[in-house]
Amino acid sequence: MSLDTVQNLIREVEDFKIDTSSDLENFRLKFLSKKGLIGEVFSLMKTIAPQDRKQFGQQVNLLKQNAEEKFESFKLQFEEKTEQQQLIDITLPGEPLESGAMHPLSIIRNRIIEIFGAIGFTVSDGPEIEDDWHNFSALNFTEDHPARDMQDTFFVQKNPDLALRTHTSSVQVRIMENNKPPIRTISPGRVYRNEAISARAHCFFHQVEGLYIDKDVSFADLKQTLLYFAKEMFGTDTKIRLRPSYFPFTEPSAEMDISCTFCKGEGCNICKYTGWVEILGCGMVDPAVLENCKIDHQEYSGFAFGMGIERITMLVYDINDLRIFSENDVRFLKQFKGIG
Ligand code: PHE
Repeated sequence: MSLDTVQNLIREVEDFKIDTSSDLENFRLKFLSKKGLIGEVFSLMKTIAPQDRKQFGQQVNLLKQNAEEKFESFKLQFEEKTEQQQLIDITLPGEPLESGAMHPLSIIRNRIIEIFGAIGFTVSDGPEIEDDWHNFSALNFTEDHPARDMQDTFFVQKNPDLALRTHTSSVQVRIMENNKPPIRTISPGRVYRNEAISARAHCFFHQVEGLYIDKDVSFADLKQTLLYFAKEMFGTDTKIRLRPSYFPFTEPSAEMDISCTFCKGEGCNICKYTGWVEILGCGMVDPAVLENCKIDHQEYSGFAFGMGIERITMLVYDINDLRIFSENDVRFLKQFKGIG
């Protein structure tokens, strides 16, 4: 045994990393236990020449002392830690978990689903990337209809037959193609239009469209259904007004206003002093659309309507900028905690 061996051991003791109590146990086994390295060094002392023994002895004692000190100090640390752990009062109330808030668009979408669910409308779903047939052709859009224009629609570059759906009427085509009347369903979902983003317009937004097809469905059924919806959504004193309009897939078509929920019809900023706010488009399903979807228009008739969820949400919560819905600002979102 050389002096170097002892000095290397001193360094090894110093460098040994102890992070856990099992590291500490390994340290003890390696250096301090009966069969450990320090015991071995001691047993080799008698092989050292007498004149070198003093110097050796000093180094060996230093090695032993360092190892023991290191061991003791870590042992103490670990004991303190377990003591601290034992001092935790497990009867203390837990830290409250902060709950998130539902997005206002989801709250209103769910409310719309609930309102129509109560009168028998199911919920249906379809793809956001649609083909020309389901988004346009089946719905009677002529080849040169402006909605097909690149200005309005996001087309898929590699396949111009595909586009991001511009409305969820496409879902209704799918439903009509695959089901026999009576059909009574609403289709909520995200839609896309190539518009500049502003307080009033966005390149994507959300719609709920409704469809009811059966024998003898009339415009009166449509009007009553929408009146029921308006009263449920905005309060029982809400009035509705239908104005003639045009959509390629409904005939006759109308746009529906509700009496302004803010000024109760007296005139304010929101209703631009008219007392009325437009909330949806609707009409009787055009017989040509029924035929496109293999439904006999002699036997069946139906109505359809479509509304923007953003618009309804803005009216319910008095929000005046559409962009805030997609900015993910928690100061806005957390105001909806506990609702919905
Ligand atoms: N699809 C129309 C739109 O996106 C809304 C609508 C649906 C109008 C059904 C009439 C009937 O604007």
